[in-house]
Amino acid sequence: MPFVTTTEMFKKAYAGAYALGAFNVNNMETIQGIADAAADTRAPLILQVSAGARKYARHVYLMKLIEAAEADTGLPIAVHLDHGEDFEICKSCIDGGFTSVMIDGSRHSFEENIRVTREVTEYAHSRGVVVEGELGRIAGIEDDVSVSDEDAGYTMPDEVSEFVERTGVDSLAISIGTNHGAFKFKPGQTPRLRFDILEEMARRLPGFPIVLHGASSVVPKYVDIINGSGGAISGAAGIPEDMLREAARMAVCKINIDTDLRLAATAGVRETLISSPAEFDPRRYLAPARENIRETVRDKIINVLGCDGKAF
Ligand code: G3H
Ligand code: 13P
Ligand code: ZN
Repeated sequence: MPFVTTTEMFKKAYAGAYALGAFNVNNMETIQGIADAAADTRAPLILQVSAGARKYARHVYLMKLIEAAEADTGLPIAVHLDHGEDFEICKSCIDGGFTSVMIDGSRHSFEENIRVTREVTEYAHSRGVVVEGELGRIAGIEDDVSVSDEDAGYTMPDEVSEFVERTGVDSLAISIGTNHGAFKFKPGQTPRLRFDILEEMARRLPGFPIVLHGASSVVPKYVDIINGSGGAISGAAGIPEDMLREAARMAVCKINIDTDLRLAATAGVRETLISSPAEFDPRRYLAPARENIRETVRDKIINVLGCDGKAF
């Protein structure tokens, strides 16, 4: 099966009140861990690649690895560019076989965001590729761009219909209080998401798929392993799972997860090297990293996203 777009996936997810996981990939172990979990649970997959991942692993290696995941599992897989910052990177990924791209024009003015997003949708749609836009600013680090909490503005429902209409985007990333990375809330701060904004958007754009970025839960088990083995990420905090489940039942059809995979992999490597300090075979510490990713993704699919069994 060739790679698929997210069109059918989102239609079914919206109607079925569940969400797809969009998992960031950088290397073979991550792709295998995710693909194994999706095969275990018969879940459709969105594998996403950031500019940084593409620079690190290189386009052709990632494509071949994702092709291998598809051949190995037979699952429907969409290959997506995460946070494309301009037309050129979107074009390069479309020309290079991705079935979905994100153009993240959220740092621009409303008009400039519309202009660049429209440029990408015109190019993408004429080649059968779908496009995710972003409206509102999501805090955290995306590649070299750092958005502070203060600058992260919630998406304004008033702007959404006009943005979707004028750009022709197929899905939209919005800001309702999630943010990127492992420190989403300050110590003592009560996690809060603006479900009222999400509800209002669904009312104005019935059936339109919404995307949630910065949606890792920052799995406490892995934070503890990292901190307990000399790591220094105390104060790490993520989005509570019940809030993600709620979002998945609403208009959110795609939930982006990267940080939780990084934590799972790092915990596996640290635990192995601490318990076996003489180990220097990378397979011995990368296999536990891959297994932790598999476990994490399985848990997300079954207990958070609700997309298990939806592959066929
Ligand atoms: O939203 C950002 C993703 O977590 C990708 O991170 O740009 O460091 O690969 P990265
Ligand atoms: P997390 O940092 O919460 O995993 O978010 C990832 C993301 O939004 C990728 O686009
Ligand atoms: Zn993101």
